Amino acid sequence: MQIKPEQVNIAFYDAKTYDRDAFTEANRSFLYNIDFFDFHLNAKTAFSAKGYKVVCAFVNDVINGAVIKTLKECGVELIAMRCAGYNNVDLNAAKEAGIKIVRVPAYSPHSVAEHAVGLLMAVTRRLPQAYLRTKTGNFTLDGLTGRDLFGLTAGILGTGKIGRIMAELLAGFGMNIVLYDAYPDKKWAEEKKFKYVPLEEFFKICDVISLHCPLTETTKHIVNKQSLALMKKDAVIINTGRGALIDTHALVQALKRQEIGGAALDVYEEESQYFFTDWSANVIRDDVLARLLTFPNVFITSHQAFLTTNALSNIADVTLGNIRDFYSGNKLENEVSN
Ligand code: NAI
Repeated sequence: MQIKPEQVNIAFYDAKTYDRDAFTEANRSFLYNIDFFDFHLNAKTAFSAKGYKVVCAFVNDVINGAVIKTLKECGVELIAMRCAGYNNVDLNAAKEAGIKIVRVPAYSPHSVAEHAVGLLMAVTRRLPQAYLRTKTGNFTLDGLTGRDLFGLTAGILGTGKIGRIMAELLAGFGMNIVLYDAYPDKKWAEEKKFKYVPLEEFFKICDVISLHCPLTETTKHIVNKQSLALMKKDAVIINTGRGALIDTHALVQALKRQEIGGAALDVYEEESQYFFTDWSANVIRDDVLARLLTFPNVFITSHQAFLTTNALSNIADVTLGNIRDFYSGNKLENEVSN
């Protein structure tokens, strides 16, 4: 028997105004019952899913074994991730509990790649400092000297949907593009005249390194003390992938010793407590994050790369479409399993 849309209750965690707007708009054609919670899903809050068939979660929700056990007891049948990455989900526990996981594999790879270009421009041309200066009537230029990107070598680590767009955007600046991927797309690289190189050479030759691979056991801390030591002294790292791709302690040390040129980060290993939240009237207790914020050559945005109107509307449509597929017995195109 098919379940009616209004019988599908969705507990929506970590809801922001832009999520509510996009999902409320998209839900006009689905008619599910969505309750928006502004708190995270984690071991302390998982009981709030009681009576809900579906949980809709995001990048900084904690969906480990304990949470999944509670969700199962609450009667949850489906976890609909409204993001591409699912490193925060214990897939084994979900399988054991018989709870399916779906995600949004691509909502707008352009949104992320274009933000990564913005981060690169911000850090190489000192745009945040320039903005603050002119806002306060300071029109001096000392300390704002940048570099031409033209002719520099950009390295793209992870040449999937986002990495390929980033490579093509940076080629537009006249940069030489080199690539690293565990599963290279040689045909595309040949067509574009880009070159895959081994990882060690990649770190050695790049002026700009942009991270676009998923966070896995293999890629965790792929930028670490050793790889930072290989990098050029003026190289810049851009991270819109996941925070833990970088060993942040090692990055701070390299920045303090001026062994690299700078970093622009949209993600941070320990972001979950801080990102998406207003801490301006509080004390930041994370000394690593606080230290990062003091460097003039570090620029941080708080996991904002996905945030365009196009991406939000795609996320809402695909997430609600995934839920419809689950309850209509259709093939789950966007199911995640291991
Ligand atoms: P994708 O799945 O299309 O591409 C990932 C690429 O990484 C693939 O080519 C894969 O072969 C490669 N890869 C896998 N393991 C690797 C390894 N060990 N070493 C090198 N390369 C490896 O993913 P997509 O859509 O391009 O997204 C990339 C990542 O960007 C996501 O996993 C997610 O973590 C992050 N992301 C961040 C967003 C943000 O708002 N900051 C938004 C969306 C995604």
